[in-house]
Amino acid sequence: MDPAAFYNKPETTDEFLDFYKRLGNKNAAPLWESLAELVPVVPRPRSVPTIWRYEELRPFVMESGKLITAKDAERRVLILENPGVRGSGQVTDTLYAGLQLILPGEIAPTHRHTASALRFIIEGNGAYTAVDGERTTMHPGDFILTPSWTYHDHGNPSDSPTIWMDGLDIPLVNLFNTGFAEHYPQPVQPVSKKEGDAWTRYGGSLMPIEYTHPRKSSPVFNYPYARTRETLCQLYSNGPLHHCHGIKMQYINPATGGYPMPAIGAFVQLLPSGFRGDNYRSTDATVFCVVEGQGQTRIGNATLEWKQHDIFVAPSWYAISHEAQSESVLFSFSDRPIQKVLGIWREEVPIVSM
Ligand SMILES: [Fe+2]
Repeated sequence: MDPAAFYNKPETTDEFLDFYKRLGNKNAAPLWESLAELVPVVPRPRSVPTIWRYEELRPFVMESGKLITAKDAERRVLILENPGVRGSGQVTDTLYAGLQLILPGEIAPTHRHTASALRFIIEGNGAYTAVDGERTTMHPGDFILTPSWTYHDHGNPSDSPTIWMDGLDIPLVNLFNTGFAEHYPQPVQPVSKKEGDAWTRYGGSLMPIEYTHPRKSSPVFNYPYARTRETLCQLYSNGPLHHCHGIKMQYINPATGGYPMPAIGAFVQLLPSGFRGDNYRSTDATVFCVVEGQGQTRIGNATLEWKQHDIFVAPSWYAISHEAQSESVLFSFSDRPIQKVLGIWREEVPIVSM
């Protein structure tokens, strides 16, 4: 609906302007002048459909490795900044994303912060992320969490660079003015658990007896791609396909069945070769990372052609439809969980006639 047809905005005469000026001196303003922006008829995201092509960005990532060490940078990351919100450090109106590099022999020192983070591994084998005393080796396609206020560090004992996409709820945390951060006393936190302990303890459809979950994020902090890919492969052979999403699954917190983090949901989908999806839209602006394959996604009036490792964004309430030229896997994340907590999440799925 046209906002102009919904809201009646009065003609602004000199009398009005004089009133606004005197009102402004008292730190007040007339609602009727900004009602269409403050209470929109439909979402009005500032972020715009955007794609970051990995083959264009990777040279910059590697160049950053010559400029500064991971230790000196604290985190050597290139922010993926949406051109609609330039200068904000945001990939969407509510989320942050970046590309992080850790070179062989480097460490990124141990710290913690109130923002929750995900890592989606793009390249490299043998680097690790440690969370609360457990290290996990990062492989391409792995989805790794560092929940709010957990100590985490990264290290790369392998002989190849490791690059991953970071996704954080930094803009939300800062909107609430709840940002805190601190260092661990040593750069590398001590290892107190065997690798794979969290997955074995919580990720295999078993739980410690009478387990009560102490925090809001998943107790599993690495969801290995090998398992995810196997699931997608099996479900593709089982069918059916969703007419918008192909085979689409969401990562869960096994202790609750809910999302892995309180504000960020994460998803993975398989699009068969030749798939042409119907339009879909939802209020959670979504960041996609191409794990495998090649295709294109129409977002509003923009058509973004993508291939492996590219990252693209669909802002809130834009109609999106995917096409795959070859069998493709897309990872994605959004702020869907927090929208659901607030009771404001919406989606629009076209009805298919049978
Ligand atoms: Fe961090």
